[in-house]
Amino acid sequence: MYPYEKYLGEVLIDERTLQTRVAELGKQISVDYADCEDMLLICILKGGVMFLVDVTRHISVPHEIDFLAVSSYGKGARETTGNVRIDMDLTANVTDRHVLIVEDIVDSGHTLRFVMDVLLARRPASLKLCTLLNKPTKRQVEIPVDYVGFEIENKFVFGYGLDLDEKFRNLPFIGVVKPDAF
Ligand code: IMP
Ligand code: MG
Repeated sequence: MYPYEKYLGEVLIDERTLQTRVAELGKQISVDYADCEDMLLICILKGGVMFLVDVTRHISVPHEIDFLAVSSYGKGARETTGNVRIDMDLTANVTDRHVLIVEDIVDSGHTLRFVMDVLLARRPASLKLCTLLNKPTKRQVEIPVDYVGFEIENKFVFGYGLDLDEKFRNLPFIGVVKPDAF
């Protein structure tokens, strides 16, 4: 038995389905940004890292990658409050560039609202959002999502970048936490 198995209720999205969809997103982004000469992909750490490294390899348009680490504080680890802060800022300049945010999941929307406001204040030429997972039923603030890998129900998921108390980000699939695991 692998250590993650005691927390795993079911595999929600298996590795093959994930990789197929990530490749599709990369191809779509390549088409949409075909005329773009200065594209910047911004990965939101830590959850977006697996998605970023996979999707970037399917984007044929020349682009730079950079990383922005944010965290929300207050309340428990499973819920955001809207109190979001920057833990590590970008090194790249955003001004006048075509920016695409690469995120693991949009849940309440507080994290993304904060990130988008920070980036918009730096005056990009354009700003779009690509999220692997979207939980629309949990939304508290409106977020324009331009690219979505999968719409999912309101269940706590882990793997492929998403953590369960900071662990299991390395799993190649998305799993649902077992209801009685805690
Ligand atoms: P939001 O601010 O509520 O949209 O939350 C976004 C952040 O919460 C994501 O970037 C994730 O890091 C985390 N999160 C939300 N739902 C889940 C989940 O089901 N599993 C793991 N992390 C999650
Ligand atoms: Mg995240």
